[in-house]
Amino acid sequence: MEIIEAIRTRRSIRSFKPDPVPRKVLEEIMDSCRWAPSGGNAQPWHFAVLGGEVLDKVKAKLREKIEEYWDGTTFTYMNPDLPRTVPYPRELMPRTQKLREQINAYLYPPGTEDVEKKEAERRAKGQRFFDAPNAIIIYCDDASPTVMGAVGIASQTICLAALAYGLGTCIMGQSIIWPEIYRELLGIPEGKPIATSIAIGYPDTDAPINNFPRPRESLDVLVDWHGV
Ligand SMILES: Cc1cc2nc3c(=O)[nH]c(=O)nc-3n(C[C@H](O)[C@H](O)[C@H](O)COP(=O)(O)O)c2cc1C
Repeated sequence: MEIIEAIRTRRSIRSFKPDPVPRKVLEEIMDSCRWAPSGGNAQPWHFAVLGGEVLDKVKAKLREKIEEYWDGTTFTYMNPDLPRTVPYPRELMPRTQKLREQINAYLYPPGTEDVEKKEAERRAKGQRFFDAPNAIIIYCDDASPTVMGAVGIASQTICLAALAYGLGTCIMGQSIIWPEIYRELLGIPEGKPIATSIAIGYPDTDAPINNFPRPRESLDVLVDWHGV
């Protein structure tokens, strides 16, 4: 697949077919990911690739946590590995709000029955890596901005590489709210912050959740030109 096409067609996938991704394919994707850039070539990342029974156990633990920490509006807990020290910038809120609205409009068109129940099911599915057959947990040596930047680049590298194998991905912050799950089940030591996670699998291309439009700000809003 051509690079620009891959960048423009990648989208977050939130509904997957159950078929597990073959180990060989996951290995090839992770092998490509090694070529992601990082400051000083420090390669400050570690990857735990999950599937099968281990991922089932993770999903079960996540289910327990949602029940414990969902207050009806939000999670009453924050990943202690990545504490937010300043509030989320106010000017970005309309964009995140728009995502929510767009998903709701697509999933629950006027006349949809049992919206509350369906939304609770969707939320629970979200906490189970959207039922993806595989997931990747990215942890690192510290949570400095440079390291987190590198983790972001590695994440996108995985997502783009996955496309070449017909796979879909969703980078997921919501699955790492409780890093203790991964410490317990995967043996990730304290002091290695769990930075992000990625759901990966073959996309259910017809699912509405994989087809809603994703707006982007225009170049005028995002780019200043200087001497060009
Ligand atoms: C750091 C990060 C964390 C994310 N966490 C979640 C998440 O927890 N749940 C989710 O559904 N999507 C999550 N996403 C996906 C974003 O919602 C998505 O990238 C954004 O809406 C743009 O849509 P697109 O990826 O389809 O282009 C995350 C993306 C990033 C980069």
